[in-house]
Amino acid sequence: MANIVLVGAQWGDEGKGKVIDYLTDKVDVVVRSQGGNNAGHTVVIGEKKFILRLIPSGILRKGKLCVIGNGVVIDPVSLWEEISELAAQGVKINSKNLLISECAHLVFPYHKIIDEQREASKGSQKIGTTKRGIGPAYGDKIARVGIRVGDLLQPEIFAAKLKTRVKDTNSLLMVFGLKPVRLKKLLAEYLEVGEKMRPLITNTVLTINKAIAAGKEILFEGAQGTFLDVDHGTYPYVTSSNTTAGGACTGSGVPPNRIDRVVGVMKAYSTRVGEGPFPTEDAEVADLMHSMGREYASVTGRARRCGWFDAVATRYAQMLNGIDELAVTNLDGLDSLPRLKVCVAYKLDGKRIEVPPTCVRQLAKCVPVYIELAGWQQPTSDARSYDELPPIAREYLQRICDLTGAALKLVGVGQSRAQTILV
Ligand code: IMP
Ligand code: MG
Repeated sequence: MANIVLVGAQWGDEGKGKVIDYLTDKVDVVVRSQGGNNAGHTVVIGEKKFILRLIPSGILRKGKLCVIGNGVVIDPVSLWEEISELAAQGVKINSKNLLISECAHLVFPYHKIIDEQREASKGSQKIGTTKRGIGPAYGDKIARVGIRVGDLLQPEIFAAKLKTRVKDTNSLLMVFGLKPVRLKKLLAEYLEVGEKMRPLITNTVLTINKAIAAGKEILFEGAQGTFLDVDHGTYPYVTSSNTTAGGACTGSGVPPNRIDRVVGVMKAYSTRVGEGPFPTEDAEVADLMHSMGREYASVTGRARRCGWFDAVATRYAQMLNGIDELAVTNLDGLDSLPRLKVCVAYKLDGKRIEVPPTCVRQLAKCVPVYIELAGWQQPTSDARSYDELPPIAREYLQRICDLTGAALKLVGVGQSRAQTILV
């Protein structure tokens, strides 16, 4: 099936977990290349619900190798918890199904404290982060003071590096009037979990490139979404990694000419968690979703903001990622509506624009230009083929994919593995 990069075409939570799970069936290796445990991929198989944060969703299929690449930031304590939870649900982890890059950077508890502190000091300007320490951990990486997974395997080097970091961090924490980090406890905790992970830690760049050379097929599973990309998203209301397709290469050590195809995942409407401009945000859509118990974040439990489908945003995402094929999820969320709005342009200071402004101040001033489409007002969650979908729902899907500029390949009509329609 070739080497595929899968990306979120909106603000994250597009239902990527389910699409990844579907595509994984057809590949040999599944790679995470950016983000950390700020991500939450939900996969429902039969009666069982799995929420994956760092481990690729491919872990739920037998015989697949999952890789946490160099571009990911890893909280090893949280990763070990995830591994243990999976084991308790019958999914055993070993070096046959999970490998971790020695170049991935570590997230420490002090990163979380700094994340919280920065948010608190921003007041109404806060980003609305997941408070998992993601930004400060990537900050250390870019500032070249980070500590990597491979360091855990060399206790003396790790201890020396951590000592320096803790010293610097404690002087910062003191300024905030916060309790200092206790080096000894932290060191012991990380070395212990590092030892447990030792068999999984390796040079994953070699592993992945060797697999490609041997004709194996790779799925790069993106976390978060296009507009949370640190370069291309609604900066500063973004996450701290490259969530767009290019991030799959740098975050895994695979050259761009080994990538064959890009699949974009988008909801049939829009959602966003955290702060930042969201032009098509709409109270009616939010009330509808929340009244059905939908659109609560899988990791933090926060209610997601909701709105109409924004084709200005997804068209830009198509260009930025080179999306060839689209998976549209959560179609069933719209089943009850008599009419649907789709945003086809923005008005900025009275002028019609077709591309989202890169400046958040301008984006916040954009007023959506909508077209209205008929609703199908029928349940879709039992449909198992494209033909079983109501014709009006098919028209809606076709319309939003045409506006986005890529071919419709998959439709999601519910959370379970079975509720996936191949077009
Ligand atoms: P951080 O990644 O925790 O620093 O959060 C930065 C922004 O990205 C916030 O708006 C978060 O809500 C958002 N974010 C981070 N991870 C996800 C995700 O997996 N899905 C949706 N939004 C996310
Ligand atoms: Mg999520």
